[in-house]
Amino acid sequence: MLDVNSFQTDIKIDSPGRINLIGEHIDYNGGLVLPAAIDKKITFKFRKNHSNTCEILSSNFKSSFKINLNEISRSKTEWQNYILGVIYHINVLKPGLIKGFDCIIESNLPLGSGISSSAALECGVAKGLNELFDIGLTDLEMIKLSRDAEHTFVGTKCGIMDQFAVVKGKENSLILLDCETLEYKLIPADFSPYTVLLLNTNVSHSLASSEYNVRRDECNTALAAIQKKYPKYRSLAEIEPEVVQEFKQILPEKVFNRALYVSEEHRRTLKAAKCLDQNDLKGFGDCLYGSHNGLQHMYEVSCKELDFLVDFSKDLEYVIGSRMMGGGFGGCTINLVLTDKVEAFIENATAAYQEKFDLDLSPIKVKISNGVSKIESNAK
Ligand code: GLA
Repeated sequence: MLDVNSFQTDIKIDSPGRINLIGEHIDYNGGLVLPAAIDKKITFKFRKNHSNTCEILSSNFKSSFKINLNEISRSKTEWQNYILGVIYHINVLKPGLIKGFDCIIESNLPLGSGISSSAALECGVAKGLNELFDIGLTDLEMIKLSRDAEHTFVGTKCGIMDQFAVVKGKENSLILLDCETLEYKLIPADFSPYTVLLLNTNVSHSLASSEYNVRRDECNTALAAIQKKYPKYRSLAEIEPEVVQEFKQILPEKVFNRALYVSEEHRRTLKAAKCLDQNDLKGFGDCLYGSHNGLQHMYEVSCKELDFLVDFSKDLEYVIGSRMMGGGFGGCTINLVLTDKVEAFIENATAAYQEKFDLDLSPIKVKISNGVSKIESNAK
C-alpha cells in the first residue's frame, strides 16, 4: 500500500462539496438551480509513477486499489467506480494522455449527507489528472465527463448541478444555473444577519439511488406526454403549472405530482433569486419552506427525520427557512438561522432530534468557497 508519510506529491488538489439553496431535482429537468461550493472538501495528492498502472488510496476507507490503464472496467467497490469512471471518460475524450499515477485521497465530506462527496471525488480526479498530464480539458468538459462517469460506472443518472458547482464555485457567491443552456450568473451570497447552517440527520436511506432513477423516469414520462400535445416544450421545468394541470386526469397521479412539483420548483427558484436581489430574506426563506413541502408531498424524496427537523424549525422565529437538501431520503437540512442564534438552534434541534429518534444530529457550518483547485504543484 502507498505510504502516506513518504509520498512525494507532484500536484495537490482541493475539491469541495456543495450546498444547494433551492432548485432541488431540477437539474435533470432543465430548470434553474442555486448551488454553491463550500469549504468542506476532499484533498488529493497525485504523483506520476512512470508505469502503466495506477494505485489509489483512500485514507478514510484505509483501503487502496491498483489498476492497469489498459483494462479500465467497473469495480464491485462503489467508491472506486467514481474514479474509474472519470479515467474511462477522459480516455474517451482524449485517448492515451493519462499515464501511470499514484493518488492519495483524504476527505472531510461526510458520505451520504447530500453535500455531494461524489461530485467532489469525480471532479477532483478529473482536475488532478488534467493538471498532472497537461490534458487540456476545459471546465465544461471536466463537468460533463464527471457526470457521465456517475451515469456509466456508478449507475446514478444524476443531473449536472453538483459537478457544475464543484468546478465553477466562487467564494461568497451562489451560482444561478440554467441547467438547460448551462448559462449561469454569480450572485452574492449575502444572508446577513442570517447564516446558512446544515443539520446532518446522519441517516441515509438505501432508497436514495434507486428512487433517484425512478424520479427521472417519471419526469421523462410526464414530459413525453405533455410534448405530444405541446411539442414546443423542451424541458419539464419550462412547462407552466397551468399547463401541467391540464394533464391531471391523463397522467398517473404520481407522475402528475412530480411534474407539477418540477414546474413550481423551477419558478420558486427564480422567485427566490429575486428575493435575494431585493434583500427580502424572509421571502427567500418562505421559498425554502415551499420547496420542502413540494419535496415531501409531491416529489416524495424526503423522510421522517428531515421532515421532523424542518417542522421543528417552523416554531422558532429565528429560523426563517429550512428544507431538505440534495437527492433526499436522508442527509442534511439547509437552514437560514439568525447568526446570533445559531448555537441555540443547534442545541435545541439536537436535543429534540435525540429525543425523537435516539440519534445524534451533526451541525455543519459552511463557508461558501471556491471550486476545485490546484493548491500545490511540484511537477517538473
Ligand atoms: C443529487 C444529484 C444532482 C441533483 C440533486 C437533486 O445531488 O447528483 O444532480 O439532481 O441530487 O437536486
